[in-house]
Amino acid sequence: MDFFDLDKFAVGTPHTEFARLRREQPVSWQSMPAPLQDQGFWLVTRHADICEVARQPKLFISHTGSVLSDAVQIPHPAWQMVRDGLCHLDAPRHSELRRLAVPHFGPEALEKLASAIRQRAAQALDRVTALGHCDLVPELATAFPVRVVFQDLLGFDEADLPMAAYWGDLFNRVHAIPNGDREFGPMMQASGVALERLYQHGVSAFRARRIAPRRDLLSVLAHLEVDGAPISEEEFLSYFWSLAIGAYDTTASTIASGLAALAAHPDQQDLLHARPELVESAVEEMLRWETPVIYFRRTATQDYQLGGQHIRPGDRVVMCFASGNRDDAVFAAPDRFDIERSPNPHLAFGFGAHFCLGARLARLELRVLFEDIVRRGLRFTPTVAPTRARSNFINRIVHMPARVESVEAMDTMSFD
Ligand code: HEM
Repeated sequence: MDFFDLDKFAVGTPHTEFARLRREQPVSWQSMPAPLQDQGFWLVTRHADICEVARQPKLFISHTGSVLSDAVQIPHPAWQMVRDGLCHLDAPRHSELRRLAVPHFGPEALEKLASAIRQRAAQALDRVTALGHCDLVPELATAFPVRVVFQDLLGFDEADLPMAAYWGDLFNRVHAIPNGDREFGPMMQASGVALERLYQHGVSAFRARRIAPRRDLLSVLAHLEVDGAPISEEEFLSYFWSLAIGAYDTTASTIASGLAALAAHPDQQDLLHARPELVESAVEEMLRWETPVIYFRRTATQDYQLGGQHIRPGDRVVMCFASGNRDDAVFAAPDRFDIERSPNPHLAFGFGAHFCLGARLARLELRVLFEDIVRRGLRFTPTVAPTRARSNFINRIVHMPARVESVEAMDTMSFD
């Protein structure tokens, strides 16, 4: 398959091609686009093989790059922040920084956020209901998690929210755009400017919160002790980078694609409204069905046999979560959107040492939002086909104009 045909990904994840690879060549050698055409990568498509890679972080490391292009080696502190972002670190530094952060994403920490999350969901739903017809991506799918993550969790000022949303969107897309693609030039230019601002924002946040802590996660992180010493600016920025670009975009993707999946499967939508207790399993199915992060990459450090292939030290190894989530060795009828699916061991949050730190928060946001949607009897009907990002890394609906109706209102309409 041509993994770099981004126009193909712009019409949806290429599940037919992934299914063929799982059957015929579960670990396949794929080439990189120019100017790296003499290089390549292993595309790992089966659930079991993906888990085998992810559970061995010493054999398959992250620091050389988590997307297909290698980590940029520009000697500038902003690029250093990217290279040392939590998801790009390896043990022992990764394990130490992750261990310190884990409690702040646990049940107790989230309990404190729960009422703010409910309020944000209600506000976003009030607004789209009042509009009646709107683009659900900015108005709901983005507006809700941006406020939860950047305002309630991280403590950004209101005025900085649009910029924060722009960062997540831009960096997740620019990451995976190959040199030579028509979007490469403009995106690289925009990201250079944005990266400098993001870095400056992180540095200011660290310094301000060291002096005057607030009631937010950035203040907690700025006062951690690492190996018995106050956390350094670089260590703080490692968290800051991963949270600034990874904490809202993926949740926004799941909301938009979850709403699209319900609209496309009216029987499942009816079932959800009839049995609200299914919200939890429906959210898991949305994450499986439209896996928001298509892949993450590792680099092999030793010779290794996987799926009948010989992987050599230095080889790029791509764990294709979107493919693993449709593997019929694990999921019965994988191409059926089934909100009652149980168990549902999907890989949308990754697996192993780098398993998503914010998975519990993301699940809480998604459950709260869909519970409120069901409580209000809301249905969203796209009025034109959704537009998707041209990306082989992030599966993201970028525009989805839709009509917003409540079940009661629809019943009344048909009654009239
Ligand atoms: C539906 C929403 C989300 C999805 C699908 C998602 C997906 C992922 C995936 C696949 C990884 C694994 C990276 C790897 O294997 O290298 C990851 C890591 C990470 N995620 Fe998420 N994420 C979501 C929401 C969040 C939220 C809400 C936060 C924070 C508030 C967050 C913070 C992180 C961090 C910090 C890491 C790096 C963890 C590490 O390297 O140890 N994510 N995420």
